[in-house]
Amino acid sequence: MVHFKTLDDFNVKSKTVIVRVDFNSEVDPQTKQVTNAIRICAHARHTLKELVEKGAKTVIISHQGRKGDPEYTNLKQHTDILKQLIPCPVKYVDDLFGEKAQNEIKQLKDGEIIVLENVRGWSEETKKGTPEQQSKTALIQNLAPLADIFVNDAFSVAHRDNVSVVGFTPVLPSAAGRIMEREINQLKALEDPHRPCVYVLGGAKADDSLEISKYILNNSIADNLLLGGIIAQLFMTAKGLSLGKGTMDFLAKQDLLHLIPGIQELLLKHPDKIMIPVDVALNVNSKRTEIPVTNLPSESPIFDIGTKTVEKYVNILSMARSIVVSGPLGVYENTNFCYGTKTIFETIANSNVLSLAGGGNTIAAIDKYGLTDKIRYISTAGGALVEALMGKKLPGVIALETATDTKT
Ligand code: 3PG
Repeated sequence: MVHFKTLDDFNVKSKTVIVRVDFNSEVDPQTKQVTNAIRICAHARHTLKELVEKGAKTVIISHQGRKGDPEYTNLKQHTDILKQLIPCPVKYVDDLFGEKAQNEIKQLKDGEIIVLENVRGWSEETKKGTPEQQSKTALIQNLAPLADIFVNDAFSVAHRDNVSVVGFTPVLPSAAGRIMEREINQLKALEDPHRPCVYVLGGAKADDSLEISKYILNNSIADNLLLGGIIAQLFMTAKGLSLGKGTMDFLAKQDLLHLIPGIQELLLKHPDKIMIPVDVALNVNSKRTEIPVTNLPSESPIFDIGTKTVEKYVNILSMARSIVVSGPLGVYENTNFCYGTKTIFETIANSNVLSLAGGGNTIAAIDKYGLTDKIRYISTAGGALVEALMGKKLPGVIALETATDTKT
């Protein structure tokens, strides 16, 4: 059941619509050039295109990076990319809510777009607050009176209670944009998934993976959990396997060993649902050497799941009717150790079931193997998706659900 309004609920013709998008993209720290425009394309091809075609006057707000970070830039080149994607007048305004921005908004014509300055250039943006509190800040007080509707299309930043994410909803009628709507609906479908539902978790963010594992297993969302990457190493350790000094030192250095008691508890509760590798690929002088886990410990680090584990996982995936994947299963960037990730991702892509993939490295790997069009749903989100998969309600989504119906 959807509890928020969408673009279907509004006539946007000749209306001034403030759209919070997430143009936050990979940026080369040296050249400051955007190197991956996947999010800009997603917003452009769906929500922004629709608004332009319907004759809205569109005002875009976004962040790019965090102040002080190498990825922090203005939104000039994002605007240039957008211009290539949408055949309408698109203008970059190097102001957020001052006189210049306000004048540009007032002069907007139907079907035109302006992109305001990186919202994180304004120090109040990331201060925490409820929608009511955020609605009293300068950004909202200056821009909301000039607009008719607020559209939040930025699912990937919905886990933040930033001013531009939640602050317009108490004062402007608000809708989810098409990307926001699509992401939420996909996640809703996964609350009661087609069975069997299989989760594949890997990557380096083991603490996040553990939180997701707890949520999906304790709430009977997943029927099977297949593990790779660092989280698999922790589960192997929790099961009593001795991995070797190098791996243990690495896990200790990453401050991950405190997760072991929680993992042991989970293993006791769900012994049949959690699959950990039966064999691994070690990095022995940069060469792939596979051994059964019973032959561990080893001084060489674990860089991938082994062939037998891949077979076992492929078999489980072949019976799945819905699949969620987040995180590569090994060091996929190195061709000697990409076998597990590549084979498992190809299996998911070739299966004809609901599949959802998310997370920066996951999407990069899917792209690398040319599988982007085959995975049923690829989320644009990183942190927000992880929090949603942990069962957390996202402030940006709550704000849409509780938004005002009338301009105040
Ligand atoms: C993301 O890339 O996950 C979003 O754009 C949010 O960025 P943030 O972590 O800097 O808030």
